[in-house]
Amino acid sequence: MDQHIAQAVGRPDLIRLDDRLVCLRFETMKVVSAVAAVEHLLETGAVRPGDTLIDSSSGIYAYALALACHQHGMHCHIVGSTTVDHTLRTQLAVLGATFEQMEPSSDLGLDQKRRVARIREILAEHPEYHWMRQYHDAVHYLGYRAVAERLRRETGTDPITLVGGVGSGASTGALAEGLRTAGADVRLTGVQPYGSLTFGSDHIADPEIIIAGIGSSIPFGNVHHDLYDTVHWLAFEAALAGSVDLLRRHAVFAGLSTGAAYLAARWEAGLEPGRTTVFIAADTGHRYVDSVFARHREAAAVEDLAPLTVTSQDQLALPWCRMDWQHAAGPATATVTAG
Ligand SMILES: Cc1ncc(COP(=O)(O)O)c(C=O)c1O
Repeated sequence: MDQHIAQAVGRPDLIRLDDRLVCLRFETMKVVSAVAAVEHLLETGAVRPGDTLIDSSSGIYAYALALACHQHGMHCHIVGSTTVDHTLRTQLAVLGATFEQMEPSSDLGLDQKRRVARIREILAEHPEYHWMRQYHDAVHYLGYRAVAERLRRETGTDPITLVGGVGSGASTGALAEGLRTAGADVRLTGVQPYGSLTFGSDHIADPEIIIAGIGSSIPFGNVHHDLYDTVHWLAFEAALAGSVDLLRRHAVFAGLSTGAAYLAARWEAGLEPGRTTVFIAADTGHRYVDSVFARHREAAAVEDLAPLTVTSQDQLALPWCRMDWQHAAGPATATVTAG
């Protein structure tokens, strides 16, 4: 029996959708990562029960850290982006986490930089707070180890193509690393929105909207570019088509980054039918009811969509591109230098 709800919601479902596609479905991803991170910090004495943990988040990490703090008797303070909605803000308040939301900004880069600046201000006043740094601290890789072990157990000796959205890089990076360390043959496919610095699409704007949780306009230390074999970039309309098809065809109600990963996974599965293709569903569809699912009639048929194959980022174009990344280093602007 679980001793705290964080253990239950942190455990993903592994669902076979057809003979090639498997969905690694989280109710809300990052709980498993935040809980293991907090436990590691407590075990190593970096923090003590009752301490305050602080970080910036665009949504699901805020909830994950609040649950981990609730489980372990810590205080949680979040500097949130404008994508943190009323439902989450209310839950955070009742859970005892404190939350401050930045002023709305249409500029994602500015929004991220302002959140970091605000955290530095708070830390100057409260040097005793511990900054979790989900985008940079490798402690966030730890929690995915058990998930990788389970994936390995359940897929046996099959070669795996793992497909997932890249935000902090921790989930895709840690799962691929864990599987490869266990001897599995893993091809890793990262999914990105346009307008993201991480894999060099920052010169192309997606006119409709950003996909919450994936992509970045500042470099992240937890993205290890050399782990990735392939990168897909998807625009909002393609991700919408994926999300709607995933619900219609397989009854999985998940968010936009999942819709994008599902589309990329279908494509990769078609290229190499001998592999088991596992894609990550990071959150449920509730946040996207109005912006995505209510528009189901305008969703393109996924069979009509195909990525443009590019060999360099200057060829990128909306709404969907694919590039063989081949374990290359990241763009210089997206790489965190030591220090
Ligand atoms: C909805 C959603 N999908 C995918 C991701 C990417 O996960 P990671 O930060 O592990 O790269 C995030 C991260 O915030 C997210 O919120």
